[in-house]
Amino acid sequence: MKTYYITTPIYYVNDVPHIGHAYTSVACDMIARFMRLDGYAVKFLTGTDEHGKKVATAADASGIAPQDFVNRVSQNFQELLIAMNFSCDGFIRTTHANHITAAQALWEKISDNGYIYLDTYAGWYAVRDEAFYLEADLVDGKAPTGAEVEWLEELSYFFALSKWQKPLLDFYETHPNFIAPLSRRNEVMNFVKSGLRDFSISRTSFSWGIPVPGDPAHVMYVWFDALTNYISAAGYPDIEGERFYNVWPADLHMVGKDILRFHAVYWPAMLMSAGLSPPKKVFAHGFWTNAGHKMSKSLGNGVDPFALIEKYGVDPVRYFMLSEIPFGHDGDFLHQSMVNRLNSNLSNDLGNLVQRSLSMIAVNCGNQLPVFGALTAEDNTLLDQANKLIDIVRPLIVGTQALHKYCAEIWNVVRAANQYVDYQAPWALKRTDPARMQTVLYVLAETLRCVGILLQPVMPASACKILDALSVPQDKRSFSSLSVLDALTPGTYFPDPEPIFPRMIDEVADA
Ligand code: MSP
Repeated sequence: MKTYYITTPIYYVNDVPHIGHAYTSVACDMIARFMRLDGYAVKFLTGTDEHGKKVATAADASGIAPQDFVNRVSQNFQELLIAMNFSCDGFIRTTHANHITAAQALWEKISDNGYIYLDTYAGWYAVRDEAFYLEADLVDGKAPTGAEVEWLEELSYFFALSKWQKPLLDFYETHPNFIAPLSRRNEVMNFVKSGLRDFSISRTSFSWGIPVPGDPAHVMYVWFDALTNYISAAGYPDIEGERFYNVWPADLHMVGKDILRFHAVYWPAMLMSAGLSPPKKVFAHGFWTNAGHKMSKSLGNGVDPFALIEKYGVDPVRYFMLSEIPFGHDGDFLHQSMVNRLNSNLSNDLGNLVQRSLSMIAVNCGNQLPVFGALTAEDNTLLDQANKLIDIVRPLIVGTQALHKYCAEIWNVVRAANQYVDYQAPWALKRTDPARMQTVLYVLAETLRCVGILLQPVMPASACKILDALSVPQDKRSFSSLSVLDALTPGTYFPDPEPIFPRMIDEVADA
């Protein structure tokens, strides 16, 4: 079985999760579920980034020892996984012993290869971003992100990034799909072309981090530690045998645009210095704002994913996030947009289609899928559209990660099916031509089968309800069953249909 290794960034545990965090993970979950249904052995990794000054400061502020603090906050992210129905196969915490061993082993390897040296760092640092800045980067005395900066002057180990400028540019040239979307690739390439500086990878002024091997007065820079998670979860430094190379290089690191540089410049250079291959792809998605404002801890305006799930249900929340904005672009979160989209796409389009098709089968055919007669051009057009959907959406997941287009393509079929019902009017055929009514209802059920199977990565529980309502056996729900060979069998018993997507009340938007 082919493997597919996909990762989320590991989340800082300085604060509770907001929808920005849920977003990176829901995108990965959709892709992971798609790949599993498409026949891959998927490894889907997520976790928490628990060291560094930012987390240490948050622990300090709450008066709790750092380890107890990170245990508690990491738990919130693990609860989010369950609430959002994420199908991760691994949850890594950077305070775990195996990760610490891996980060130290990677350090030693890079050091043995001559890419780490000791010097003095003097420059600006933003704790909020956990990033170093040059004097020239500052805007009105702050980081370009708006974060406060502090002056640092300390003995530090450095990573010789400057030696990797040419190899990185060569790598980007020979791997044109390594950074996506294309606009981000251009940005990164221009950054690397403008020259790379060695960067500081250890700190002595605080201790909440992984000790540097052979020099425990230093702890590792949190990004050196954090990036290593992607290989520590794959078994590094144990790279003998199959386990490691079964999954490494990772197929996809999904990240927000704010952390692309760490993943597309620092990380491949670190890996190459250790003699390891870079990941196959890094995709940088956009940012959500809350009613036009950047979500931040200081403004306390992060949209709470748990509250959204409570109000709207997990599948509608997933569907909204995945379909509302072109994946890769920024978007604004508004309750009203959510209510509108859920009412129009879920309740009106899909919900009605399922409800009216299945009720007609229940009422007119005694809960049994009817036999069909000769198929008309309209029947074949709709069935073809449903059968060919997988070939249209696969490249959107595997190639371009155009997750919103995946949803849009499914909805094209849903809308076509609704037009088909309106035009065929099976309720009228019941009197005039009952055999034709049966054919129309069969075509609708079969279309819904394809829609249900393809909806599983987006709305797993609702798709499952649709497939249950069509009595599709569990072992016929993967993409290999999208073929006409696994089409529904006339005579199959269907349970009484139940509404799947209730209409959202608009007042919810004002709550
Ligand atoms: N700990 C680092 C990642 C280390 S990976 C080796 C980190 N953590 S984070 O918690 O700040 O962010 C995690 C993810 O959430 C990133 O992909 C980030 O882009 C994403 N988001 C945080 N806020 C966001 C929005 N407002 N909108 C969309 N995604 C956002 O960075």
